[in-house]
Amino acid sequence: MSDFILRLQSAVTDVVIKTHPFAEIIYWGPHLSHFSSQDAACLTRPVANGRLDVDSPVTLMAELGHGLFGAPGIEGHRQGLDASPIFTTIKVEQNEQNLTIFSEDKHAGLRLCSEIQLDSSGVLNVRHGLTNLREQPWQVDRFAVTLPVAERAREVMAFHGRWIREFQPHRLILEHDSFVLENRRGRTSHEHFPAMITGSQTFSEMQGEVWGVHLGWSGNHRLRAEVKTDGRRYLQAEALYLPGEIALAEGETLWTPNLYGSYSAQGLNGMSQQFHRYLREQIIHFPDNKPRPVHLNTWEGIYFDHDPQYIMQMADEAAQLGVERFIIDDGWFKGRNDDWAALGDWYLDEKKYPNGLMPVIEHVKSLGMEFGIWVEPEMINPDSDLYRSHPDWVLAMPGYETLTGRHQYVLNLNIPQVFDYLLERMSWLLGEHLVDYVKWDMNRELVQPGYNGKAAADAQTRQFYRLLDTLVARFPHIEFESCASGGGRIDYEVLKRSHRFWASDNNDALERNIIQRGMSYFFPPEVMGSHIGNRYCHATFRQHSITFRGLTALFGHMGLEIDPVSADQQEREGYRKYTALHKQWRDVIHHGVQWRVDMPDATTLAHGVVSQDKCQAIFLVSQLAMPDYSLMAPLRISGLEPSARYQLTLLDHPNIQITGEGGHTMRKLPEWMTTSQTVSGEWLQQAGLSLPILDPESAILIGLQRV
Ligand code: GLA
Repeated sequence: MSDFILRLQSAVTDVVIKTHPFAEIIYWGPHLSHFSSQDAACLTRPVANGRLDVDSPVTLMAELGHGLFGAPGIEGHRQGLDASPIFTTIKVEQNEQNLTIFSEDKHAGLRLCSEIQLDSSGVLNVRHGLTNLREQPWQVDRFAVTLPVAERAREVMAFHGRWIREFQPHRLILEHDSFVLENRRGRTSHEHFPAMITGSQTFSEMQGEVWGVHLGWSGNHRLRAEVKTDGRRYLQAEALYLPGEIALAEGETLWTPNLYGSYSAQGLNGMSQQFHRYLREQIIHFPDNKPRPVHLNTWEGIYFDHDPQYIMQMADEAAQLGVERFIIDDGWFKGRNDDWAALGDWYLDEKKYPNGLMPVIEHVKSLGMEFGIWVEPEMINPDSDLYRSHPDWVLAMPGYETLTGRHQYVLNLNIPQVFDYLLERMSWLLGEHLVDYVKWDMNRELVQPGYNGKAAADAQTRQFYRLLDTLVARFPHIEFESCASGGGRIDYEVLKRSHRFWASDNNDALERNIIQRGMSYFFPPEVMGSHIGNRYCHATFRQHSITFRGLTALFGHMGLEIDPVSADQQEREGYRKYTALHKQWRDVIHHGVQWRVDMPDATTLAHGVVSQDKCQAIFLVSQLAMPDYSLMAPLRISGLEPSARYQLTLLDHPNIQITGEGGHTMRKLPEWMTTSQTVSGEWLQQAGLSLPILDPESAILIGLQRV
């Protein structure tokens, strides 16, 4: 048996796979320093009474035919036949940390190619390709990647959300059956971020074992955590297909999306750090190495009200504030005066811009800033010239009334003329103007997505990738942001062809604290768009100090979402201050190691970044609501060099009122805040640092410099 045991290893994680006769992952856990393939024999299971007389493996393809009795990894048929495949390994290729297993079912006429890669970051990346070997099509109903996890992974964490409330974590103890997350919205969605984390009970940011997975796919999907009746557990993820959507012709291959997995014995931080490193090394490709420029986006400043003179004034002010990239949002194209009309008509609105866009762009450039522009290519308003001439270009099911969302329909990118039209219009915009950056939006879900009467959600997602890929190849110097009503299309597959995410349309700092933390489990700060919004938040009408807003926006790809012309002096000072502070720490934030800190009081959120060389660190403590306790727990800072000493600095804080009499939260500040102090990395990690008592909706920023 030991001949058929292969191992993929990284410094933190190993995966052990039994390859014959059926491929099976038998171990995914901590790195094994004394591995011998013979050891695997002691994991051979007994056969329980009262069920099949043979062992039932959870194979790589999780076929029902082995007696899985759980959610299988493959379902489909050839007009009812060949519906219960079992794949037998025919060839195995290992090239360092890449394993490819070829297997076949001769009865069903199907071939499988499974690619398993364990990156040096510790991230596991798995996908399967299914090929039909017969003349008659094989109808694919389901095709998933299945990853067994240890029996002790009893707790599940996933994310729910909605527009202006993305990445909300929730947890449950799963003892039996399954927990399923299904997305049928046609884009990655705000509601069902395609990820699941399982772990030892009460795993936290800093403790416990966790196995986290993310499906790299921007369409419909299904993720599942399953407990078999024998106690074994697995995670499963797939693109979700609508009825009849996928039929494989002879010789045709269907690939699952990539499923990315990260195991950590050090809680959620370890999982995220591995994902971040993987993205930085394998997926994120910025056109060049320059720092991520600070943005000013016009949306919440002027909405659809575009006057080039005023926009140039905004640019003047933006440059004064330290902004490095100026973006014109929605409202620049023909007839776009509100969200009822004009999507699809990608021609400049000459009434608003009688001299064209170039004077504005040149003005922005003359101020030393880059120029960006908003588009939403996949959409069409019924009230548009495009719809009037091509009503049949809509992604819809014939015979039914198509529902609008934000007064718009979806364009059917599967129609070659539609694809060509969009490519031509986008190429005009990007080729004939000095554009450095595109905010690519997608503001409607897919309902009854149809092409030639058949379901076409999967095909639509693939065509979106193709369109964006073509533009990225044609304009390699341009960066793209993925936005879908805020954070509706955030995933690793779209990140292969984009450079930033608009995390949420909600710039309320209180809400952003939760949203951004949720996003940080899977994405590093440099791809997370985080803007300082108006004092009165447009999404919630809450009011926050510039300090709280500024500090909250600091830990991402920062920007401003305001009108700097109409802002008062105090606000402007704040924008300038936090832009400068971000630039000062940008290198650490965008390249360092991110840590979230466990705090006993759920109303306190603490997180920070330690530079790769452990010489600098920056930590933010945000108090979201009235603290539960009268003192705040010490802040324990991980990731520093234990033997080194660090100078503590209070980089920024609100007006910490110490009234002595008459109430308020605090009489005396912690000592380190008023005297100069150095502390060892070990002490900070094990014992920590006293915190001042913060008011609700305020934050402090702490800097550490190795001495
Ligand atoms: C979406 C985006 C916003 C903004 C508007 C413009 O809602 O999420 O940021 O660009 O569209 O219409």
